[in-house]
Order: sequence, then structure tokens, then C-alpha cells
Amino acid sequence: MSAKTTPADVDVRGRDISFDLQAARGGHWLGGDPVGTAVFNALSLTFPDGERMFMDAVRHYRGELKGKLAEDVKGFIAQEAIHSREHHVLNQLIDRERYPVAEIEAAVRERVTQGRKRGPMAMLMSTIALEHFTAMMAEMHMAHQDIFEGVAPDVERLWRWHAMEETEHKAVAYDVFMEVTKGWSPFLRYRRRAISMAIITFMFTRNITRYAARLLEADGYSPEAALKAVKAYVWKTPGLFSRGWRSYFAWYRPGFHPWDQDNRPALAAWKAEFDAAVTAKAA
Ligand SMILES: [Fe+2]
Ligand SMILES: [Fe+2]
Repeated sequence: MSAKTTPADVDVRGRDISFDLQAARGGHWLGGDPVGTAVFNALSLTFPDGERMFMDAVRHYRGELKGKLAEDVKGFIAQEAIHSREHHVLNQLIDRERYPVAEIEAAVRERVTQGRKRGPMAMLMSTIALEHFTAMMAEMHMAHQDIFEGVAPDVERLWRWHAMEETEHKAVAYDVFMEVTKGWSPFLRYRRRAISMAIITFMFTRNITRYAARLLEADGYSPEAALKAVKAYVWKTPGLFSRGWRSYFAWYRPGFHPWDQDNRPALAAWKAEFDAAVTAKAA
């Protein structure tokens, strides 16, 4: 067992919440901004298949896990399953007549299929790297909520709930990786995770940029202008991929663990809000 794990008081559990996403139908739901909407729609389109792959990646190692980690994995799978479900709903609301949604979904499916063919360990490595990315974006979401200003309440809540649970479970796949590779040398583990991150960083940022640019073309942008606008959004302002560079690079520290960055205090209010939503639903 590695020395560092998900903290004992972080209880990873699915919150079965459904959101009323109708306000996202057909339009630029992100505050009327076509570029931001394209980027977040591109992310959303990768979630259902991507998150199912994450679930299967950890599920494969379930038999080797015990105690809190086994419980956390159960919670991780529950959370990602509900994320997939709700993002699927959002994805259905994108105007398919206008936007090349089917084309993007097919591209995502193809990537995930290729990833699955590389076997369970490669899937787990991709999962821990992508989970680091989502945790970084969730952290940025917490620090810069202004991006979601002017967004319909339930659509805003969907993204905030997702960001909150991504933070909560940010180390679960990583903890699985550390447990099932405990027989590896520290150098091998480090090398594998550094290489995986480098590859995932390249692929993930490139793919999201491409998908978002394709969506933006349907809004009337030329291919060049679409690509330029999306790149400015993700790398400059607001800098969805670049703003969290400190958190991103922490990955390359030997001995890194996702909870080295302890954001439990920052998470507390959101957690209370969504815990209450689940309780209210059950009542
Ligand atoms: Fe998720
Ligand atoms: Fe996740």
C-alpha cells in the first residue's frame, strides 16, 4: 500500500441527481458565448464513452482491492455512471441537425475502442492521467466560477456537481494504480505515469480542440477562425487548460499524490449543497 491515499474522511459515494437541462437545448447555453459553449459541449461529448472506460479500467482490478479502497472504487463507479447518464442527456440537447455531433461521437468511440484494445493496464494509465486533467479543471472551476455566469441554474449545477465529484474521487484510480503496481520499482512506476501523462496531454488537448472547432464551424466560423478561437479559449482566456499549470505539473514530481493538493475546505459548501439535494430527493 502506498503511504498516501484518498483521505479517510473523503467518502466517495454516488449522488443520484437529475438535472433539468432543457435550457441548454439548441443554443449557446454558456452565457451566450459560442466558443465557450463549443468547448464545454466538446468535453461533454467525450464523457459518456470516456467515463465508461474509466469505470471498466478500475473494475478490472477490483479483486485485488480491499477495505476503504474497495469502497472508494464502488463509489467511483457509481459517480462516473451517473455523470455519463447526465452528460448523455445534455448531449442529446445539442442540435444534431446543425452540429456534427454524430461525427464527434464516432471519433470519441473510435479513440475509446483503440484505448480498450491496449489492455487493462494501459486503460488504467490513461484513466489516472485523464482524472488528473479533470481534477485540474475542477479546481479551476472552483477558483473561477465566473465562467459559468449567466448559465441557466440547472445547467450550471450539472457542471459544478460534476466538478465536485471529480475532486472527491480524483485519487481513486490513482490509488488503484499504486496498489496494483506495488511490486514495481518506483522508477518504473514514475516512468510509466510520466509517459502516459505526456501522451494523454497531447491527445486530450488536441482532440477537445478539434471537436470544439468542428462545432464552432457549424456556427459559421471558417475552419481557421474556429481553430484560432478555440485555442485562445483553452490556452489564453479563460485558459481552461493552461490556468491550472501548477497543478498539472505537480504530476511530474516523484512521489506525487492527487491529495497533495488538499481542497477539502474549498469543496465543503458544494458538497453540502449536493448532499442536501440527494436527501431532499429521498424525503
Ligand atoms: Fe466524471
Ligand atoms: Fe472522474
